[in-house]
Amino acid sequence: STKASSIKALTESGSVTSVPSEYSFTLNPNDQADSNDPDHSIPTIDFSLLTSGSPEQRSNFLHDLRKACEDWGFFMVINHGVEESVMKGMIDECEAFFNLTDEEKKEFQGTRNALDPIKCGTSFNVAIDKVLLWRDFIKVISHPEFNSPHKPAGFSEAALEFSKRTREVATELLKAISETLGLESDYIANAMNWDQGLQMVAANYYPACPQPDRAIGIPPHTDHGLVTLLIQNQMGGLQVQHKGKWVNWNAMPNSIVVNLGDQMQVLTNDMYKSVWHRAVVNNTATRISIAVPHGPSVDTVVVPSPELLEREGLPPSYSGISYKDYITLQQSAKSYMKPCLDNL
Ligand code: SIN
Ligand code: FE2
Repeated sequence: STKASSIKALTESGSVTSVPSEYSFTLNPNDQADSNDPDHSIPTIDFSLLTSGSPEQRSNFLHDLRKACEDWGFFMVINHGVEESVMKGMIDECEAFFNLTDEEKKEFQGTRNALDPIKCGTSFNVAIDKVLLWRDFIKVISHPEFNSPHKPAGFSEAALEFSKRTREVATELLKAISETLGLESDYIANAMNWDQGLQMVAANYYPACPQPDRAIGIPPHTDHGLVTLLIQNQMGGLQVQHKGKWVNWNAMPNSIVVNLGDQMQVLTNDMYKSVWHRAVVNNTATRISIAVPHGPSVDTVVVPSPELLEREGLPPSYSGISYKDYITLQQSAKSYMKPCLDNL
């Protein structure tokens, strides 16, 4: 067996010229991404219009944001105010973390709990994975309490700054999203106990793969929270399902990719849906992506907004479950690659 404790170590051993059977994952031919579809222009949201734009620009911004949330649930944010150095610094520190030896990483492995403050490993959850993923990861909970591995030396400082800055963007975004729903700007923050809201920083390491069509970085899934912010060292690899088709998501350098998660779908009673996405691998270079999921406080029982239900005259599509229980359910074998919201 080729079971290595990291895909990085396995690929660097020099013996991997084809995808080992444990990692064998083939997409359905009709499930391949069609990058040549001209209709797929990715929504771009210029954040500077929100804060410094004229009233008219601001209202155009909210209109575009609403459309992006309704039509895609995925968009690219530019002029977001997070300095390039902060994003680059985080990517560099994550790379340094992955460069630690498997022995050094061991102390950060965590337990089986989906809410471990710090957890690193390979694949998704080797205890339940039927196919191993071409991916190593390090994940920390950064809010309401900030956690970090103490190695490499610069990780903690970079992660603290990066998590604070991305959370600021998420905070502003949730205010704007509240407004696009015709609600008070602090509506989502209040309903979700945002002051105690969960934020994670989850870095993925996808080494070059000799047969990229025969392995997968992260299989199709939706995110559990409200909004996820994502940065990456190398564009290309993220694919998003849009109107039944898979689309290559070629984000602009230094943009932040944002996608809506399951709690947003519950809160809006399906007005804004969480979106299926996946990460494919390539045969030329290592890709690092850093996803920053933001959600309510873990004890919040998320239900469809009563205000929206009343206004739209609709029955609730979901019954309430605490965010903590939802995450545990979503990360269990039962929900693996299945729509977890169907359980509610
Ligand atoms: C993720 O969905 O968590 C990561 C996607 C990516 O690597 O682009
Ligand atoms: Fe994701």
